[in-house]
Amino acid sequence: MNASVLRLEDLAERGALRGKRVFIRADLNVPVDERGGIAEDTRIRASLPAIAMCAQAGAAVMVTSHLGRPDEGVLRQQDSLAPVAARLSELLVREVRLVRDWAEGGFNVEPGEVVLLENYRVNRGEKSNDDALALKMARLCDIYVNDAFGTAHRAEATTAGIARYAGVACAGPLLIAELDALGKALGAPARPLVAIVAGSKVSTKLTILKSLAAKVDQLIVGGGIANTFMLAAGLPIGKSLAEPDLAGEAREIMDLMAARGASVPIPVDVVCAKSFCATAPAVVKDVKDIEADELILDIGPKTAAMLAERLARAGTIVWNGPVGVFEFDAFSHGTETIARAIAASPAFSLAGGGDTLAAIAKYGIAADVGYISTGGGAFLEVLEGKVLPAVDILQRRAG
Ligand code: 3PG
Repeated sequence: MNASVLRLEDLAERGALRGKRVFIRADLNVPVDERGGIAEDTRIRASLPAIAMCAQAGAAVMVTSHLGRPDEGVLRQQDSLAPVAARLSELLVREVRLVRDWAEGGFNVEPGEVVLLENYRVNRGEKSNDDALALKMARLCDIYVNDAFGTAHRAEATTAGIARYAGVACAGPLLIAELDALGKALGAPARPLVAIVAGSKVSTKLTILKSLAAKVDQLIVGGGIANTFMLAAGLPIGKSLAEPDLAGEAREIMDLMAARGASVPIPVDVVCAKSFCATAPAVVKDVKDIEADELILDIGPKTAAMLAERLARAGTIVWNGPVGVFEFDAFSHGTETIARAIAASPAFSLAGGGDTLAAIAKYGIAADVGYISTGGGAFLEVLEGKVLPAVDILQRRAG
């Protein structure tokens, strides 16, 4: 998938970074609490190798990222990267200066120094990929590095425009690792390829379901998505969350997969309750016995065991979404069983998406997942089969 992009590591190996001005577009968009504390810093840690590589090679290093979705032209206190600069300083064990109003230049960075350029989303023209802004930013550097997989689906000035105009444009190690993992899972997967796509609505993941239906050997659906597939299979779902008007699309996906010897495994049992509540009594039911006033909140133990067995025999697993309401203990067993089965499987596994990462953290299986993506929307767009604009431009530059 990354076959044709220039890699930062290649430049480092050639000694091409020394004394150069390097602009690293990272994704340091992390959750910040009301007191300005960073609640979770995975993305910052994942971005360190590129930064350290450039600083150690004697480059003058400028790093930028967004935080949240501020309006262009205004920097409110809550949009500032100040907490990120502080955390970067701690992790790199050196001072990382925060530079404001940087797009016009006029600031100095010494070789070997690392500075953080304030939230680029406040620059006018960023979102529209304004040419004039992109050119100005390109003039700040000799080498542009995109290491921000999390925003690779955005065609904006710091992801697309600058990459067109910078003298050299390359991919950082995090972006390369993400593309390699996606290529391994979807480009040339060891078979059987099993995908788990779960979430509340078919409508939000319909393009992903359709795209994967053409590629995978088994498409495990979960959550409200599974309810719509159960409807399509003619099963009762009580008052569960579902989209009856999309049952036809679900049926088509099942038929398309069956026609090429693949399948969408439909649950045989589920865990139900009368209300959506952590303390609601949980009842395990055969899928044929769900009553009109019941809600499906998890897959049942027989279904979980059946799916775990398939995951054990998989060659590749792609996981996006918990299969039940795993935040409520009584309805978490399905997701836990799936998580542990993925961890124990010899298959190469790739996981992504906010809820999926929360489930991985809850069950402590991070070390046993092949690759955990730092991307949210970008990860989903790759699953949809889309070309990521930030990667596309790097490929063109290398071509
Ligand atoms: C993310 O959190 O998924 C990325 O940082 C992208 O953020 P965005 O959806 O605001 O562009």
